[in-house]
Formats: sequence, structure tokens, C-alpha cells
Amino acid sequence: MSLFATKPLELLLKDAGHETLRRTLGPTQLVALGIGAIIGAGLFSLTGIAASVNAGPAVVLSFVLASVGCAFAGLCYSEFATMIPIAGSAYTYAYATMGELMAWLIGWDLVLEYAVGASTVAVSWSRYVMSFFQDFGIHFPQQLAASPFEPVTLPETGVVIQGLINLPAMFIVAAISLLLIIGIQESARINAVIVVIKVTVVLVFIALGWAYIDPNNFTPFIPPNTGETGHFGWSGVLRGAGLVFFAFIGFDAVSTAAQEAKRPQRDMPIGIIGSLAVCTVLYVLFAHVLTGIVNYSELNTAAPVAVAIDKTDYRWLRPAVKLAIVAGYTSVILVMLLGQSRVFYSMSRDGLLPKLFCDIHPRFRTPWRSNLLFMAATGLLAAFAPIRILGEATSIGTLFAFVLVCGGIIIMRRTYPDLPRPFKTPFVPVVPILGIAFNLFLMYGLGWTNWARLFGWMAIGLFIYFGYSRKHSITHNKF
Ligand code: ALA
Repeated sequence: MSLFATKPLELLLKDAGHETLRRTLGPTQLVALGIGAIIGAGLFSLTGIAASVNAGPAVVLSFVLASVGCAFAGLCYSEFATMIPIAGSAYTYAYATMGELMAWLIGWDLVLEYAVGASTVAVSWSRYVMSFFQDFGIHFPQQLAASPFEPVTLPETGVVIQGLINLPAMFIVAAISLLLIIGIQESARINAVIVVIKVTVVLVFIALGWAYIDPNNFTPFIPPNTGETGHFGWSGVLRGAGLVFFAFIGFDAVSTAAQEAKRPQRDMPIGIIGSLAVCTVLYVLFAHVLTGIVNYSELNTAAPVAVAIDKTDYRWLRPAVKLAIVAGYTSVILVMLLGQSRVFYSMSRDGLLPKLFCDIHPRFRTPWRSNLLFMAATGLLAAFAPIRILGEATSIGTLFAFVLVCGGIIIMRRTYPDLPRPFKTPFVPVVPILGIAFNLFLMYGLGWTNWARLFGWMAIGLFIYFGYSRKHSITHNKF
């Protein structure tokens, strides 16, 4: 059988009938799942950096641009998720449209989005937790909260040394993995509580901060380019879009839970597009208030919200806001790790990965061995890898997945023109083509080192595919 043979659709849809995972999620929970994965380190840490280094107050335009690229991909994801409502997300869609090899590559690529994404946010989580405790005079040894590749400044002496290991980041990954093992319902419930908390913080920030906006901070709205591409001017707005793209990652994680949705045909588009739309509106307003309160030139900090609060009469809100942000990051990690285990679940059921990844716990009905393995892998990355590399690997991996999903829609319309499509991507092929172009453009902006890492990761994937997966593939050996 050829590498490009697709998994027959009948087989995919038969998989959808298998009730090994529980179908318990309704539309509200799915939107919450999306928001749970979306609002996190991107908004609360990167907005300030994108404003101060790249776009100035026009960071709101960067958010709009990034959201447009995501919207194209979101529309394509929605069509797929309603057509093939099973757990694997982009991996499954690629299997149906572009063949086993592509499917494998995309499944392998999604590790960058989900597992590496979870590590990225875990590292950022540990920073906010440290800063929260510091506000109360509690000092955790800094070296034990940073990777060996990251410098830390000792508070007593001001001496800069390298970190050793990021223990808090490891802790949060372990805690969430254990929660995921206990059950999808429990995880979804905790996620819903956290989503309410973090959306409330964003809304409170916008509402209270609005009165403190100083219109002078908006002039110039797009600061003139410094002569270097990406530093202000329109090129800065574009570079800023590449950076804040990270803030949108996660809406597609809704599609990984398709097999646990009660009515995927109706609720998948609601979950995907709904969460993306809510977050876009919140992000634009948030960025507008932030750059209105604080001049963009003062925002080059990983905790811009704290800087903004200090400029208001609500300084007492600082610890509560930090705590809410920490909680918010927690749900991002939760949904990312959930998505990861569900993608590998599907790949393992297809025989491309060892069976342990689809081994369901008899009582909890969750892929517990997979959760444990990813707990180890993600925890180690969070403990030792530098955040910048993790974050950029997450973005390039996600963008690559978006490109393939958009391409898959065009192929699927040709190969299965008559298949019922409860949700149809509008203006095909224009929307998918724009999605491909836009996301490739953002990938281009991430630079050659990230491309090299992506190729390196894919090369390892190919090695495993030809060494193991091809021989064990159920589809491959059956047809
Ligand atoms: N969108 C997620 C975040 O910003 C990954 O944390």
C-alpha cells in the first residue's frame, strides 16, 4: 500500500461509533475548553513585549491580524471536526485526505503544539507563582525555578547566575497530568471554574482600566519604523502578529475532544469559532486598555498587567490578579495535555504508536499510561528547556498544523464531494488558500532556526515512522 493511501472514511466514521471515551461535553463546556486553552501566557506576558518591541499601541492591530489567520484555520477545523468527529484532530483529518505518511507527520508535529506548548506555559506559570509569593515576602530559591539555560538574579546580592532546574514547572505538569487521569468530566469542571476566573480578571481589567486610559499614549498609534524590519512601523505590526499568535493557540484543541462531545456535529463549530471570537474581542480590548494606561515604551516586561495596575488606584488588586493569572495558565496546561493524549490515543488505535497510548484505565476511562508518559516528557522539558525555544517551537508546530488542515479541506472537497458536511467552510477554496498563505507567512517570520528545529523534529518522526509505525499500521496492513 502506498504512503499516500488515505484511511478509508468508512473506517474513520466507524471509529467514531466506538464508545471508549465518554461523550459528556456540551456546547458551553466546549467553548470553555477552548477559552481554557487560549487565554494564558500569550495575553498576560507577550502583549507587553509585542507592544514595546514591535508594534506600540498598534499591538491591537497585531491581535486582529493574528486572529484573522486563526479564523481561516478555525473555519477549516470546524468543517473537519463535524465531518469526522473523532479524537485525533488534525492528525485524523490528514489521514482521511493526504495519506498515512502525512497523517503521521502531522500527529508528530502536534506534539510541538500540545506537549511543548504545555511546557512553555508551565515555565511561565512558575514565573508568575514566584512573583506572587515574592509579593508576600516568600522567596523560593531562584535557581530551583529556572532552566540551566536561563540566567537568574539573586535577590540578596544582585549577582546573575544560571538556573538549575525549574521545579515549580515540573510540579504543575505533574499535578495536572494526575487530574487528567482521574477523568474528563472532573477536568472539564475544574477547567470551567478557572475559565470563569480568568475571563472575570480580563473583564475587570478592561472595565476598571478604561478610566485610566491616557489618550496621549496612543500617539503615535503606529510608531515609526526604527530602520530595522519588525521594529515598529507596519513591519512591526506584522512581527507583533507572529508573536501574539501564541495567544490564540488552543482553539483547535476543542477538536481533539470531538469524541467526547455529546453532539459534535452541532457543537464543534460553536466550540471552535465561539472560543476564538470571544477571545479576539477580549484581547483587542485588553491590549487597548493596557497600552492606554501604560506607555508602550514601558511595557517590556513579562508581567505587564502588574505594571498597569500599579498606575491605577487598584494596587490592592495586584495579588488577586496574579493569582487569577496563575489559575488561568493552569487551565491552558490542562487542555494542552488533554489534547496531546487524545491525539496519541488516535494514532495508537491506528497502530502507528504502541498500544499503551490507547490503553484506557478500567475505572477512570482515560488514557492513563499516555498521560503518565507525557507527564514525564513535558515535565522534563519544562524543567530544563529555555522558554523562548519552547514558545517558538510551539508556534511553528501549530502554524504547520494549520497549513495542513487548510490544505486538507480543499483536497477533501475533491475526494469526498458528496459527504454530508454539517458545517461548511465558506468560500472554498479562497478561505483555505488565505489560511495557508497567512499561516506560512507567520511561519516565515519565525526565522530559520525554528525551521531547522521543525525539520529536525520531523526527521526523528520519519525515522520512527519507517522503523515502527509503517509495519504496525492497522490500515496499512489491512487494505
Ligand atoms: N494560547 C495559550 C497561551 O497564551 C497557549 O498561553
